[in-house]
Amino acid sequence: MDTRNTTILVVDDEPNNLRVLSTILNKRGYKVQKAICGNLALKAALASPPDLILLDIIMPKINGYEVCKQLKSIDNTREIPVIFLSALDQTTDKVKAFELGGVDYITKPFQVEEVLARIENQLTIKNLQNKLQKQNDRLQREIEARKQAEEKKDELISIVSHELRTPLACIRTALELLSTGHYGVLEAKGHQFIDIALTNSDRLLRLLNDLLDLERIEAGIDLTCRENCNIADLMEQAADSLQAMAEQSEVTLSVSTMPVKRYVNPDHIIQVLTNLLSNAIKFSNPGSTVWLTAELPETGDVEAGSNPQLQNLLIKVKDRGRGIPSDKLESIFGRFEQVYPSDSHQKGGSGLGLAICRSIIEQYGGRIWVESSLGGGSTFYFTLPDLPANYPEFSPASERAIDLAAR
Ligand SMILES: Nc1ncnc2c1ncn2[C@@H]1O[C@H](COP(=O)(O)OP(=O)(O)OP(=O)(O)O)[C@@H](O)[C@H]1O
Ligand SMILES: [Mg+2]
Repeated sequence: MDTRNTTILVVDDEPNNLRVLSTILNKRGYKVQKAICGNLALKAALASPPDLILLDIIMPKINGYEVCKQLKSIDNTREIPVIFLSALDQTTDKVKAFELGGVDYITKPFQVEEVLARIENQLTIKNLQNKLQKQNDRLQREIEARKQAEEKKDELISIVSHELRTPLACIRTALELLSTGHYGVLEAKGHQFIDIALTNSDRLLRLLNDLLDLERIEAGIDLTCRENCNIADLMEQAADSLQAMAEQSEVTLSVSTMPVKRYVNPDHIIQVLTNLLSNAIKFSNPGSTVWLTAELPETGDVEAGSNPQLQNLLIKVKDRGRGIPSDKLESIFGRFEQVYPSDSHQKGGSGLGLAICRSIIEQYGGRIWVESSLGGGSTFYFTLPDLPANYPEFSPASERAIDLAAR
């Protein structure tokens, strides 16, 4: 240990003890401050805080206990380790010393080596504590900076999306008008360019709409606008809306439903199902099947079966497509996350769909996840707990239901 830059304040009303201790410490390389009474010790510690204090207890006027108490009540001196050094050797004396914030206790008469070893021990602990504190402070600052950057990024995305949407819609309308031929007949090449421009403006518009959608959903879904919906109907509707896409991709859609009611906003559930189904179709090979199924937990499940509020409807979207690598199973639920960078232009889409799904499902008290094997296909699952009509002003019983549902 480098003792040269370490200062120890020795406090003792016996000049002889002071002299002996400072000689020992000086020899070991420490810098030593001396105080012959409690008052001077406090003054010295405040004027120039030492790295450690060796503190006698029995002293006139202010005793060692009182000195320690005062040191621990002042910000600048609170963290200095105090080792008591006293002729008092009763357990109660030692306990009191520790209760007041002392870190160690040495009884007089002392052994030099023991004093030095205990000092070194406390200084090592203090150094480690300082290092940890510094690391903690740095991490805290980094977290705060990251949070602020994240907020700024979200704000920027939101402003840009809003600002881009209107001019883009105008560009799209103008292109559509040009393509009708009312304002001059176009050559074949001209039509081709207009089609390219229309396809890309559609893509951009979809991205902006998804971004604004995600922003709106993440700000909080209005759960007061819910209806008692038959989930089977919503599953059928979502599948119907994707029938054309499935046919185009030569994928068969197989839907197996069960009549079960949930208080939901139908648009939200259809949005989730539509994204999961369109992903499954997008990443399947021609000739394969995508299954959409719903099931309720076994009635034998004591917790769920006996209480309809705990019944956690489980919906699955299964495909036999290319599958997802295991290290991406969680990250794909983040914004703009796609398994391969090429997914964006090869398959269309911007990587916002699953982020929207997760935000919706979690706000309904459910969970969404995926299981997959590379080359063997993927199954996306989500649960829908039976939220009461008056949720979120729910009762403690239903709160427990949601807790359990979220497990
Ligand atoms: N069924 C699936 N099979 C294989 N990969 C999938 C499947 N579903 C999602 N993925 C991967 O997860 C990524 C993110 O999906 P997500 O729905 O969030 O975005 P997207 O479909 O690319 O675009 P968007 O939904 O915004 O139009 C996909 O790009 C793909 O890489
Ligand atoms: Mg998608």
